[in-house]
Amino acid sequence: MEKKFYVTTPIYYVNARPHIGHVYTTVAADALARWHRMLGKKVFFLTGTDEHGSKIAAAAEESGVSPELLAGEMSGRFGKLWETLGISHDRFIKTTEPGHAETVRGVFLDLWRRGDIYRGTYEGNYCVACENYLSAADGDTCPDCRRNSEKLAEDTYFFRLSKYRAPLREFMAAHPEFVQPGRIRDEVENMLAGPLPDLSLTRRCNWGVGLPEETPGPGLTVYVWFDALLNYLSGLGYRSGDGDGEKFRAFWPPDIQLVGKDIIRFHHIIWPAILIAAGLPLPRTVFAHGWWLTGGEKMSKSRGNAADPEEYCRLYGAEALRYFLLAEVPFGIDGVFSEAAFRKRYNSDLANDLGNLIHRFCHLITTSHHGVIPPAGETPAPLAAAALDIFPELGECMDRVDFFGYLEKTRSVIAAGNLYMDEKAPWRGEADAPGVLYNLAELSRIFCIYLEPFLPATVGAIRKRLGITGLPSGPGALEWGRTVAGTRVSPGEPLFPRKK
Ligand code: MSP
Repeated sequence: MEKKFYVTTPIYYVNARPHIGHVYTTVAADALARWHRMLGKKVFFLTGTDEHGSKIAAAAEESGVSPELLAGEMSGRFGKLWETLGISHDRFIKTTEPGHAETVRGVFLDLWRRGDIYRGTYEGNYCVACENYLSAADGDTCPDCRRNSEKLAEDTYFFRLSKYRAPLREFMAAHPEFVQPGRIRDEVENMLAGPLPDLSLTRRCNWGVGLPEETPGPGLTVYVWFDALLNYLSGLGYRSGDGDGEKFRAFWPPDIQLVGKDIIRFHHIIWPAILIAAGLPLPRTVFAHGWWLTGGEKMSKSRGNAADPEEYCRLYGAEALRYFLLAEVPFGIDGVFSEAAFRKRYNSDLANDLGNLIHRFCHLITTSHHGVIPPAGETPAPLAAAALDIFPELGECMDRVDFFGYLEKTRSVIAAGNLYMDEKAPWRGEADAPGVLYNLAELSRIFCIYLEPFLPATVGAIRKRLGITGLPSGPGALEWGRTVAGTRVSPGEPLFPRKK
């Protein structure tokens, strides 16, 4: 089994506050990172902010502040939200860090020396909002955000992207797991069906990484997408002064990179082409997930339809937001975001099924057993087997990035617990009641292991209530009977109070 796991999210633009879409990719990466840590791997989880380019410069000008100030403030806001959501990243990269600029210039120079970057003049329509040149077929309007583009003509350096069309196709044919999911593979294959134009790698924008001395370009900075993509390398200290490349050697290449389907051309074509040109191994998988929609459109700040994650954390709790995003829709397809759907899932899965189960049996242990877990009775073999036997299936779900399926299976264990409790009715105080309560505590200990990557704070709270914080967690603890009778429980308030 692979002993390391490197996972990344896109780095987010700092022109506006974080929204639900940003949270989506980040909690997904967090669930993967936590899962692989639980399996005992050395994990590196990278996220951060994309702070350069004319989009950020324009937003700063509009608010009457410097781009540095805007970037600092917004990046801090992302960092704070990740803290609220319990995101366990190992590194938060900002593209304004000097070490990152060093990596960008280093790779630029490598490609120049290899002849994959050359001088030329670019003429075309540029969409500032998407930081992207449009193709001739697009006309004046950006196909993605539907804004008018600007005409630009400038001396630039080009990346010989055209040269990599055949190598990319070959690579993808040999490594079908590189582009996931399958429907995105079809799209990427379509993009590679025609010729690939070379890519202009500089912009006349003073808010960006300056070119290396060997390739001068007065007034030019490195194209923000080239700058941004290289964060996946600079985040590990590749070609930058800090460190001795140890992290890079330990973690490269990425095991999985998560992106939204809005940025597949950058991540499935330009990014691997840069890596091939730089002589570096390619990521195992770049997985493009679907969009959250509101009013039938992609949720985005610019369309004014973005839900505010800070507000959802306040109203429902950060754990509920993590859970909803990964449980509601299979990763990879679009989902409709609405407060009604959020509340429904919150009430049914978290308040009723999970919260109630814990609350009910802890309460009974408190009232009828002096607050300590009673001795084990007979092992409920089918219940124990149902809980323990799904572990390999959960592993398969995580390998397929199927959070939806994983949570569905985990819910079935919780549902089995509720059913068992209703059938055995330990509140009646019959002879087997103590053993039944023991079994419910033990079942909860087991499903907490499964829930940890998704609901880490909730699992922490349940383990505290059950008095089992000292017991090992993780796959090694998947054995019936580890809960120690006599352990003191502390009931507390409902974990997820019902919402009207
Ligand atoms: N800065 C670039 C990425 C550079 S990566 C080298 C960028 N930033 S962004 O702020 O626009 O974030 C885009 C990412 O946010 C998407 O790829 C996706 O991960 C997430 N989402 C933004 N809106 C989304 C939805 N409506 N739905 C789901 N995820 C979305 O692009």
